[in-house]
Amino acid sequence: MYKKIAVIPGDGIGPEVMQQTLAILEYVEKVFGHQFEINECLAGGAAIDQEGVPLPPKTLETCKDADAVLLGALGGPKWDHLDGQKRPEKALLGLRKELELFANLRPAILFPALSDSCPLKPSIVENGLDVMVVRELTGGIYFGKQGTIIDGDGKEAAYDTMFYHEDEVRRIAKIAFEMALKRNKKLMSVDKANVLENSRLWRKIVVEEAVNYPDVTLDHMYVDNAAMQLVRNPGQFDVIVTGNMFGDILSDEVSMITGSIGMLPSASLSADQKGMYEPIHGSAPDIAGENKANPLAMILSCAMMLRTSFDMMQEANLIENAVEEVLNKGYRTADIYSEGTKMVSTEEMGQVVLHTMKTM
Ligand code: IPM
Ligand code: MG
Repeated sequence: MYKKIAVIPGDGIGPEVMQQTLAILEYVEKVFGHQFEINECLAGGAAIDQEGVPLPPKTLETCKDADAVLLGALGGPKWDHLDGQKRPEKALLGLRKELELFANLRPAILFPALSDSCPLKPSIVENGLDVMVVRELTGGIYFGKQGTIIDGDGKEAAYDTMFYHEDEVRRIAKIAFEMALKRNKKLMSVDKANVLENSRLWRKIVVEEAVNYPDVTLDHMYVDNAAMQLVRNPGQFDVIVTGNMFGDILSDEVSMITGSIGMLPSASLSADQKGMYEPIHGSAPDIAGENKANPLAMILSCAMMLRTSFDMMQEANLIENAVEEVLNKGYRTADIYSEGTKMVSTEEMGQVVLHTMKTM
């Protein structure tokens, strides 16, 4: 198959983890006889430095034209002083909005080999953990009306609006119900309907949509309770569907339960299955350039791209199986290291995954 892939290495550890991932992608291309046209582009801090804006028009064009986008990570302290509209993160939000990537899938699996890295007591996770967070990505408080005000006394105020239209809720609910059907048929909708008007609408629409999915068991939870339940008994969850900001927060929490935020991939999809694939971790400026970062979330994001946007099941399985095998063999980057395992660098981890793929 011929596929066009826009690649944004980005900032911080982004370029390092992307380099390892591209080597793996190149191997998949060769072995399965595909042709991947890789178009590398600038976004975030790297784009601010070179082009003066976080999301240059050319990058947006390349991404719109591509079959999928692979993204490393954006942002860092170097650009923290910039105004909201000029920050590196604006590129991420711009891409999500412009490409209409409203459905963010964040699968969290606790690999048995990593159970030592899980900060929860073994008794809490003895049955493993396999949760899919379906996060609404182009609405809610991230994209509502916002602004700053100076009051009569010259004092500052600021506001952000949490807004959901029923169509936005319905389309993400559908994705979540479909996802639940493919898994254990349990859907937990997370909101703050005891306080927020838009959450009450959210709940109403999700309940309406449930009629079309009689095989899925739907439950609701307030977000504060969900945050607590995730550490009390994470095994109770299968698919979680929630709004933009709640999903942002809960997915970081879930990722930590899997051992490290360095392990979790994500897919952001539009209605036509076009997608942007990125690790859920950030640019980790504290370890950038040190060859220490865990490339597995990026590598697993690439596997998600192959499966979800390109229907390349075998190819995706090969990568995922190799990652599992590498973990079983005891290879660990610093973030998931525990006594008795083998500590490796970013580069070594990439190579060992690639090598394992070659033997499978
Ligand atoms: C994420 C990140 C982004 C978000 C930031 C970098 C804008 O935290 O993808 O979870 O808040 O969505
Ligand atoms: Mg986040």
